[in-house]
Amino acid sequence: MNTTPDIYACAGKPSWIYSDIVKDHFFKPRNLLIDEEHYEADGIGIVGSPACGDMMVVWIRIDDTTQQISECKWRTFGCASAIASTSMMSVMATENGGMTLKHAKRLTPEAILERLGGLPEKKYHCSVLGHQALREAILDYENKQ
Ligand code: FES
Repeated sequence: MNTTPDIYACAGKPSWIYSDIVKDHFFKPRNLLIDEEHYEADGIGIVGSPACGDMMVVWIRIDDTTQQISECKWRTFGCASAIASTSMMSVMATENGGMTLKHAKRLTPEAILERLGGLPEKKYHCSVLGHQALREAILDYENKQ
């Protein structure tokens, strides 16, 4: 299975080829929150993209004892790349018992892109939305403490 996107496939022109992992997370997004009215979050982060105007919301629940992210939910009005990258971000934030807040603050868009097998270059700005909203949600949680 080839998961590396061929960013410059067409005689030096950027292409729009997506990895199989990106397609999987776009068609089956993980941790999507549909009904936020009945969801009690410890922190909420909302960001908008200056590049395209799309919005992203991330809700997190924190284990107060271990300071690990026990749940990371999200919703966006963004594109396929934003959906896939935020889905992957939510998996990374909660896998193996959950990231500590310290670790989550150091999570980079590049680490998310690596797990996705990359994105077309022009979609990079979409991949940072979930990452930024997660940081905002952590700040919101910390401000409430
Ligand atoms: Fe707006 Fe991708 S074009 S999030």
